[in-house]
Amino acid sequence: MQALPGFRDFLPEDYAKRNYIFACWREVARRYGFVEWEGPPLESTELYKKKSGAEIVDQLFNFTDKGEREVALRPELTPTLARVVAAHERQFKKPLKWFSLGQFFRYEKQQRGRLREHFQLNCDIIGESDLAADIELVALCIDVLRAFGFTEKDFVVRISDREFWTDFLHEKNVPAERWDELLQAIDKFGREPREKTAEKLGDLAEPVFATLKSGGKSQKLSKLLDALRGRGLADFVAIDIGIVRGLAYYTGIVFEVFDRAGKFRAIAGGGRYDNLVAQLSNGTVSMPALGFAMGDVVLGELINEIPLAREAMEKAITNDAKIDIYIVIAKEERRADALKQIQHLRDAGYRVDYPLTSEKVGKQFQTAEQLGARVAVLFGDEWPQLKIKDMTTGEQQLVTKDNFTTRIESILR
Ligand code: HAM
Repeated sequence: MQALPGFRDFLPEDYAKRNYIFACWREVARRYGFVEWEGPPLESTELYKKKSGAEIVDQLFNFTDKGEREVALRPELTPTLARVVAAHERQFKKPLKWFSLGQFFRYEKQQRGRLREHFQLNCDIIGESDLAADIELVALCIDVLRAFGFTEKDFVVRISDREFWTDFLHEKNVPAERWDELLQAIDKFGREPREKTAEKLGDLAEPVFATLKSGGKSQKLSKLLDALRGRGLADFVAIDIGIVRGLAYYTGIVFEVFDRAGKFRAIAGGGRYDNLVAQLSNGTVSMPALGFAMGDVVLGELINEIPLAREAMEKAITNDAKIDIYIVIAKEERRADALKQIQHLRDAGYRVDYPLTSEKVGKQFQTAEQLGARVAVLFGDEWPQLKIKDMTTGEQQLVTKDNFTTRIESILR
């Protein structure tokens, strides 16, 4: 029996990598003053049908539950966030700066960088319409990636403004009902054959292709770029009006992050969705909002690809896996005394391990080394004295059982 296609088993080594990614995500989001929250993994299918757009709805893991409700495993967090914020709006001082780590499910064709479950870091700012919030969000996204050891040579944030395209469609007198479908077609440009995009765009194909070729500018985008330059982050970004985003709810600045070498799918994506909270509350609560999500799958691939990032991860994982103390039981008569001390040491917060059954002393020292123990304590003939070995220097010392913790503390300090 294997895991289902697109689902992963996390063996300890994989789980350590996942923990490393989560720790970096959490650390940087908190550095920016964001607070953590979480929503439910199962939602009403309606929530996504209304708000996320056709592409994601086609990829839903949905079913009818035992109470005859139409439900779906969440493919993304943003509609949940808008629902929660609309319901609890009065409780919080605006703007809200919220982040969340969670698992998401999309029935996609499994391919490199795309699975049927993945984890995301979501960071969102609710209740602020000023461009300052967009700048802060892009800066946060860059700093999250910098925390993994990536530089401007490794990734780029491609930034665009959806208003640029909605103004364009408005100018061409395209009725608003067709905007979603056309924006999706523009979003796919470069990812599907040109003829297919042309077919979807019809009469608009030529002007859209010409605009994509000449590039676009807006005052908003120039301001955003200047502000990021002021923070020393301009080398991490590029204006690219080809970024439209596949999700239907975006209204303003949008962005996606790619590896510079262009080997992988998007690492992260997001933007402004100023109407979503109002739409989900039937207009009772109206709040501007913006956010991004970064996935763990492509990020993990990029970490493996870039030596600096890979080494930083390996070092962190190795350090995290190390135990502090290994107890060597050289004489089985001492096992009960050893276990009493092990209990004290663990109560004091040390990571302690020992052989569960009788083993040769040499083998026990080998295990101590494999587990990365910094100290080995031998319970044997010397009792009530103990032999303490500093595993880094190899230095050994005999101490009485009453003051061996002081000696251990001084080695571990
Ligand atoms: P998204 O672009 O659909 O945006 O997903 C964000 C990131 O999640 C992607 O860039 C990618 O790294 C990862 N991802 C998505 N689908 C998969 C998959 N099937 N397998 C592996 N990784 C995947 C959103 O989800 C928006 N809700 C982001 C957002 C937050 N916008 C505002 N706030």
